[in-house]
Order: sequence, then structure tokens, then C-alpha cells
Amino acid sequence: MKIAVITGASSGMGKEFILQLDRAEAYDEIWVIARRRERLEELETRAKKRILPLDLSRKESYAVYKALLEELKPEIRTLVNAAGYGKFETVEEISLEDALGIIDLNCKALVAVTQLSLNYLTRGSHIYNMGSLSSFQPVPLMNSYASSKALVLSYSRALGKELEDRGIGVTCVCPGWVTTEFFDRAQEKDRHSVNYFNVLWKPEDVVAKALRDGAKGKAVSVLGASVRLQVLAVKLLPHELVMRIWLNQQGKGKKSGVK
Ligand SMILES: NC(=O)c1ccc[n+]([C@@H]2O[C@H](COP(=O)([O-])OP(=O)(O)OC[C@H]3O[C@@H](n4cnc5c(N)ncnc54)[C@H](OP(=O)(O)O)[C@@H]3O)[C@@H](O)[C@H]2O)c1
Repeated sequence: MKIAVITGASSGMGKEFILQLDRAEAYDEIWVIARRRERLEELETRAKKRILPLDLSRKESYAVYKALLEELKPEIRTLVNAAGYGKFETVEEISLEDALGIIDLNCKALVAVTQLSLNYLTRGSHIYNMGSLSSFQPVPLMNSYASSKALVLSYSRALGKELEDRGIGVTCVCPGWVTTEFFDRAQEKDRHSVNYFNVLWKPEDVVAKALRDGAKGKAVSVLGASVRLQVLAVKLLPHELVMRIWLNQQGKGKKSGVK
């Protein structure tokens, strides 16, 4: 049984991956993972859909996924790790629950789902991990989030090397700002530390580019010349300067207390 597994399937880029993969490939089943069951039920796919309403920040969920793999022994042709969230809050504003919850979901769950899937991936299978432009630089005002995405990028690059001999591709998808429900959760409170967003991209364009780059065997997918330029700039410039520019863009120069 050939399947695709998509986490973060109930909205935004995870949902878009489902729609585009379902059109492009013939899967026997698409396994869709997120907490909101009703959203997963609403998804219309050509392939048979298997709903896994799991909270991936809870370790018990890993066992549910593992048991299902062991029972059905599918061939995972495509794995998309898109579940994730962030908070636009300083280290003093963010709750400990969120500071750690971001790492539980963005890092631990991504590593767990990937590792549990390894034995079911075959030659030609592909993994897409959602990184971010913030994977490339330290980002005050959303520190836990950006740091979690640095792990995703580094983990994905090394994973790609480790799986090369098995003919399994890995692409870390690193977009700039994308119009999704990400913002609803990042800005739940009235006051938030990040208010300036230079360009907003569409999820369908990010995913289409990711699938094109994955097919070409690229390790990293970045949509847009301005985002690619920023990736290059943060590699060349000192991090101190990169962070200062970011803080100034957000109206949080030296006055803010963020030194
Ligand atoms: N939007 C951006 O500007 C942007 C930029 C760069 C990278 N990204 C990354 O892209 C990925 C997708 O985000 P998005 O922008 O598409 O945001 P989104 O629309 O908010 O989607 C996030 C997905 O993660 C799921 N999720 C959240 N908490 C979960 C949990 N505890 N257990 C299982 N699933 C959970 C959500 O489903 P439920 O709520 O139903 O569980 C939802 O399906 C994330 O990793 C995000 O960090 C986003």
C-alpha cells in the first residue's frame, strides 16, 4: 500500500501539500494528522483518506502512529512534516508552556514522526520538512520558534545525507511569511512583539515550489528572490547586525530594552 503522511494537515501548508500531492501522485491512502478532526474530515481527496486526530506535542501520539505503521506496513512514498507553531513574544512575555511547546511540536514531533517512518520509506520516497527563513538566523522576539527552525534545517540537511544511499530525498522548505492560520496562534494576545511583515506569500506557491525543488533533489527550498537574497545576506553578515536590522524593522531599536 503506497501512502503519503502529512502532519499539520488541517490548515495552511500541510493542507496545501495534501491537495497538490493528491493531484500529482497516485497514493492508495493519504494519512492526515492534526488535532482538529472536523477539519481533517472536511478534506476532499482522490486517494482514500485516513484520519489521525493526534496531538503531536504529546508523546502518547507517537505510539499511536507507530502501532498503525506496524499493523498496516505501508510504503510511505511521501512524508510531510508541516505541524508547527510559533509565538510573537519576547522571552519575558512567552509562557514556559509555549517556549517548550514550540520545541515539543516543531522539533521533537518532527524527529519522532521521521524516525518512526524510516523503515517504511523506500527508494524514491521523499521527505518534506517545514523549516523557515528563520532557520538561518537567530530571531529575538520569536526566539523559541526561530531556534526550533534552526534545528529543523540542520536535521533535514544531515538526514538527507544519511538517506542518500537509500535513494530517499529530503527537502527542508524555508519560506518567508505565508498567509496561514499560523498568525492567529502567534498573535493570540492583543500585544505581540512582531508587527512588521515585509512580504506575504501564498501557501499554494510555497508548496508548488517545494514539490518542484523536491523533484530536482534540492536539499532546501526557498521561494522568492527577496527571500533567497535574505538567506544569502544572513550567511555573509554578522549575526549581531542581522538581529539589529530585524529589531529596527519591528520598531524595537535600543529603546525597547532588547539590547
Ligand atoms: N505561516 C508562515 O509565515 C510560516 C513561515 C515559515 C514556516 N512556517 C511553518 O510552516 C508549517 C505550517 O504552518 P502554517 O503556516 O501552515 O500554519 P497553520 O495553518 O497554523 O498550520 C499548522 C498546522 O499544525 C497543526 N498543529 C498545531 N499544533 C499541533 C499539535 N499539537 N499536534 C498536531 N498538529 C498540530 C495544526 O492543526 P491543528 O490545530 O488542527 O492541530 C495545523 O494543521 C509550520 O511548521 C510553520 O512553523 C510557517
